[in-house]
Amino acid sequence: PDKAVAAMARQEPATLAELNRIIRAADPLVPGATQAVLGEGPEGAAIAIVGEQPGDREDMEGRPFVGPAGQLLDRALEEAGIERSAAYLTNAVKHFKFVARGKRRLHQSPTAGEVKHYRWWLMKELSFVRPRLVVTLGATAALALTGRSVSVLRERGPMGFGDWEGLVTVHPSYLLRLPAGEGAEQAYRDFVADLRRARGMVE
Ligand code: URA
Repeated sequence: PDKAVAAMARQEPATLAELNRIIRAADPLVPGATQAVLGEGPEGAAIAIVGEQPGDREDMEGRPFVGPAGQLLDRALEEAGIERSAAYLTNAVKHFKFVARGKRRLHQSPTAGEVKHYRWWLMKELSFVRPRLVVTLGATAALALTGRSVSVLRERGPMGFGDWEGLVTVHPSYLLRLPAGEGAEQAYRDFVADLRRARGMVE
């Protein structure tokens, strides 16, 4: 992976569009994905939101956060008063990784090595977008931004990410996995509260 990172660095894209061409042309680190899912949103967005990796739907449609987790994120963003189209949405890892179970493709979490492999792209991407705040959803995105393992539930909230002001929160997929009930509702409200706090940090 280090050799691959060095090769990527030698490509030195001068714009986000150039970077995206490089990402689109690259093979997935783990074979299987249909396509790379690029970040989406305006350069200069005040808030960048970083997820883990595309899911099944994102892999097919080629857009981030369009599946079930994305729909939950949309609802939470709206409740928090953040316009999705004004934010920049991307993922730590740009390709869907899965195991096939019959017709279903079951999501597999990326390894720390895989996150590291994709990190150069993510940092380059953020350097073009230049958000005022980077919100990480879940442990994988927090790992990508900090280089260490972050306990999201214990450490959620504002956190410096080196060059970036950051805020750590949970991943919407985590909320979808919670058994329905008061606990899940509270967890969702806490997620919206984190996003509202993020909005407050850029206002
Ligand atoms: N989960 C993510 O982390 N990112 C997506 O784009 C979709 C689901």
